Amino acid sequence: MTPPAPIPGPIDPPARLLMGPGPITVDPRVLRAMSAQLTGQYDPYMTSTMGEVQELYRDVFRTRNAATLLVDGTSRAGIEAVLVSLLAPGDRVLVPIFGRFGHLLAEISERCGAEVHRLEREWGTVFPASEIEAALREVRPKVLAVVHGDTSTTLAQPLDELGALAAAHGALFYTDATASLGGNAFHADAWGLDAASTGLQKCLAGPSGSAPLTLSEAAVDVIAARSRVEEGIRPAGAADDGAGEADAAPIASNYFDLGQILKYWGPERLNHHTEATTMLYGARECARILLEEGDGHDGGLRGVDAAVARHALHGAAMTAGLLGLGFELFGDQSVRMNNVIGVRIPEGVDGDAGRAALLRDYGVEIGTSFGPLHGKVWRIGVMGYNARRDAVLTTLAALEQLLRRAGVRVAPGGGVDAALGAYADAGTAA
Ligand SMILES: Cc1ncc(COP(=O)(O)O)c(C=O)c1O
Repeated sequence: MTPPAPIPGPIDPPARLLMGPGPITVDPRVLRAMSAQLTGQYDPYMTSTMGEVQELYRDVFRTRNAATLLVDGTSRAGIEAVLVSLLAPGDRVLVPIFGRFGHLLAEISERCGAEVHRLEREWGTVFPASEIEAALREVRPKVLAVVHGDTSTTLAQPLDELGALAAAHGALFYTDATASLGGNAFHADAWGLDAASTGLQKCLAGPSGSAPLTLSEAAVDVIAARSRVEEGIRPAGAADDGAGEADAAPIASNYFDLGQILKYWGPERLNHHTEATTMLYGARECARILLEEGDGHDGGLRGVDAAVARHALHGAAMTAGLLGLGFELFGDQSVRMNNVIGVRIPEGVDGDAGRAALLRDYGVEIGTSFGPLHGKVWRIGVMGYNARRDAVLTTLAALEQLLRRAGVRVAPGGGVDAALGAYADAGTAA
């Protein structure tokens, strides 16, 4: 008789400092919130917590949209929910692509049956607004879908002019803010966004698995016309399926039908899915921590502004340190996100072996790259809980040793010294 397979021991992960493009080390306060006990789905505590989460994320997205909620799933679930809910087969969508995640928006749109118009740029650059405007004029899409910060290239597409352009050409404006929100300026209402979605695992300092999103009234109207309430949970006596317009193509997904999800989060409390309560607790804590940041005294920053300034400070210190180690930076630095830095892997260094050594010897994780950048660029994240001075300095010290052992000539202490210099220039001991 073969002996029974051994039962694995309890989860006990090794200590890691996650300094890649995400996920990053989770803020311990978020982990603690996620260990709280569940309540029933319609318990008054649960429904009032859902209301708090909506209000907190309105402040994080900087919007007054009533339709602000969580989709249960990773950031990709939020993207898919927005696109499948807005796009009917044959609808035109314009997708400017400047990295991997633009391709994802195009791919998901294609699966929705939309007519996808791609606008492509070399990775390491972003689009001038005029290029997007010309395409809007030519394509006349129903939706303009753009990634804000594309983690694959570390760059952020400026969005401030695009909302007005999209509106002028009759398009709804959607952005994927997974990598950028909380660490970079973001103004959903002021930028004219009709939809924005994100995740927790980058600047919001949480784990992946919840996708906060917000929808303008115009987006909600489009969704309401296409939404269907499934049989079995329709209100008693309702003759039809609750759809706004009988001739509108129904949303092709039940799980991601944002019309049903909105009814779950709204006063109807439609029994659509069982909310992922533990993720709800985590998402609530992520937003709460962000919004309570900074004391706001003596002209000091508060809330999202303070969090963005923290990411800018530590991102700049890391950048100075990487230059001090002799790295060449990747991409147009004038539009780089505060929280991820791309560096060219020095000649003669094996990128994947280097990353493995960094993890093995120092417990520090940095990121590889995709597509045309694979093997050429490392991505170093400074975000969320790890947008901290000690995390920056530890990573630079470990990278120096890695380079030295790989035979690269580095100025001893050059990375840490340059970062400390950047902190001193910023006048902070943070
Ligand atoms: C810009 C961007 N969009 C979407 C995603 C997909 O997120 P998830 O893996 O949480 O689905 C990522 C993940 O890194 C991202 O950086």
